[in-house]
Amino acid sequence: MPPKKPRIVIIGAGMAGITAANKLYKSAGSKDLFELCVVEGGTRIGGRINTSEFCGDRIEMGATWIHGIKGSPIHKIAQEINSLESEQPWECMDTFLEESVTIAEGGYELNPSLVEPVSSLFKKLMDFSQGKVVEDSLKLVAKSCGPGNISLSSFLRKGLEVYWSSMNHKEEEKLAKTLGNWSKKGLQEAIFAMHENIQRTYTSAGDLQTLDYSAESEYIMFPGEEITIAKGYLSIIESLASVLPPGLIQLGRKVTKIEWHPDGHSPAAVENGHCIRPVKLHFQDGSTMSADHVIVTVSLGVLKQGVCGDAGMLFSPPLPSFKTEAISKLGFGVVNKLFLQLSPIHDQEIKNCIEFPNLQMVFHQSDDKFRHPNIPWWMRRTASLGPIYSKSRVLLSWFAGKEALELESLNDEDILNGVSTTISNFLSHSNQLYNGDANSVEKSSAKCLDFAKILRSKWGNDPLFLGSYSYVAVGSSGDDLDTMAEPLPKPSNSSPLQILFAGEATHRTHYSTTHGAYFSGLREANRLLQHYKF
Ligand SMILES: Cc1cc2nc3c(=O)[nH]c(=O)nc-3n(C[C@H](O)[C@H](O)[C@H](O)COP(=O)(O)OP(=O)(O)OC[C@H]3O[C@@H](n4cnc5c(N)ncnc54)[C@H](O)[C@@H]3O)c2cc1C
Ligand SMILES: *[C@@H]1O[C@H](CO)[C@@H](O)[C@H](O)[C@H]1NC(C)=O
Ligand SMILES: *[C@@H]1O[C@H](CO)[C@@H](O)[C@H](O)[C@H]1NC(C)=O
Ligand SMILES: *[C@@H]1O[C@H](CO)[C@@H](O)[C@H](O)[C@H]1NC(C)=O
Repeated sequence: MPPKKPRIVIIGAGMAGITAANKLYKSAGSKDLFELCVVEGGTRIGGRINTSEFCGDRIEMGATWIHGIKGSPIHKIAQEINSLESEQPWECMDTFLEESVTIAEGGYELNPSLVEPVSSLFKKLMDFSQGKVVEDSLKLVAKSCGPGNISLSSFLRKGLEVYWSSMNHKEEEKLAKTLGNWSKKGLQEAIFAMHENIQRTYTSAGDLQTLDYSAESEYIMFPGEEITIAKGYLSIIESLASVLPPGLIQLGRKVTKIEWHPDGHSPAAVENGHCIRPVKLHFQDGSTMSADHVIVTVSLGVLKQGVCGDAGMLFSPPLPSFKTEAISKLGFGVVNKLFLQLSPIHDQEIKNCIEFPNLQMVFHQSDDKFRHPNIPWWMRRTASLGPIYSKSRVLLSWFAGKEALELESLNDEDILNGVSTTISNFLSHSNQLYNGDANSVEKSSAKCLDFAKILRSKWGNDPLFLGSYSYVAVGSSGDDLDTMAEPLPKPSNSSPLQILFAGEATHRTHYSTTHGAYFSGLREANRLLQHYKF
């Protein structure tokens, strides 16, 4: 019997899987110390990194930002491979903060002096919840939401109430004033809701009532600016994959079942003279593959379905309950991006058309009789719509939760109509009330706001993802993220480390990001390298 080289199979060619393969191959695979392969269910590498093109511009359907460049391994790679500049226009979002205009439903452009107090209140509450500032009064606010585990939403809303109740008489009188068919208090609440909607897309919690408040302070953000990658996020994946020999990554290999041996498996077990490896993978096409170690990097959404979905069990025997509980309790939401191309306009029309601003939308809240009946419900929690770079004719909006799911099922025309109706409501009556100076927005004639084409991501229904990224839901905690990362069976077992777990949802402090996925891939590669003392 020839000496057996350990076989390591990585499931998934996203950031975690490719990083693990890169590390393992560079450290030991190239010296032929083990057999290594990556099996990917889809027809491309990258996973939730999906750089695409729309109207000649490079855009991201999935991961978009480097969340803080200082200390980010993604930023380091991007610099090394010169991915931060490009000839082709890309989604650089250079108008993102500077050129924003905030408009309330009905077409009221809001003076910054109206928006600012609510925005800074919101920021203060978020900074506090994330542990960036300490303030005794806010400690009391948090305390008054309890007892027990509270949601981010209950903390934020309590903070808003306290803000209102701490107003003096004069300020309160102002609050009662009406502006068109808005009350000032209603406006403040709606601006607050707009900020909540931005948080929904940041966290993927469809409803902030399901987002755990105390976990917010555990999440670590890198310092420095946040930027996008000029040559596309995929260039990072391609660079990591470029060291792997051809054939190491197998596409179109969807795993349907992972058989393993929780009670151990004698390393000397033989069958027809061959060593038996403790794990057996079953693929959709009926083929199988045995392995000593499997690194599972599939999304938390795929794991959730795999441990309790109707589609059948992914693991046989099922995972132990400490593992399935963490998988079930943690949150995994849907976030989608919608790109719209404004129709080309003739030169003589350009002077009549304004450049589309980064539009922040303030909608009437649910119980308001002034809600415009033709604005579809799935647009009502969209915080913004704006060009992907200065003067671009391609606009972008982010959607979360059930609105994001709805976006996947609508046809292009319904989406175009819904967005157009919304935009014409917001841009038509601008300047009526709050901005004396006749500035730009109202000049935009209908012709300038005609959409030609759309493209949207569909992360929620894609069976290889079933959502976008994970969050700590009320009822779960950072401990569950650590539990996600624990390998099976325990190291004391006679054949340990049969199933290892990597992926964004296995990182306690950097979950939901590409660098979290990257770190998790390194972690599991190192676990195996240490095990074999390579
Ligand atoms: C819309 C959107 C925006 C985002 N924005 C950002 C951002 O701005 N910044 C940021 O840092 N992060 C962002 N993210 C998150 C980031 O994309 C992910 O955290 C990261 O890419 C996850 O990598 P992963 O390797 O953990 O998982 P994945 O990329 O999901 O990789 C898992 C792989 O497993 C494959 N697979 C699934 N099931 C099977 C199976 N049964 N058999 C075989 N293969 C299977 C999948 O096809 C996939 O390729 C965003 C994500 C989305 C969806
Ligand atoms: C808070 O959540 C944790 C799980 O993270 C749970 O163990 C605990 O019982 C919860 N506490 C309350 C009061 O609900
Ligand atoms: C609210 O005000 C806007 C702008 O004046 C107007 O177009 C709209 O019809 C009003 N809505 C209702 C329901 O009165
Ligand atoms: C990835 O991008 C392509 C467009 O290039 C798109 O067709 C596909 O739906 C995207 N995947 C997801 C899950 O959104």
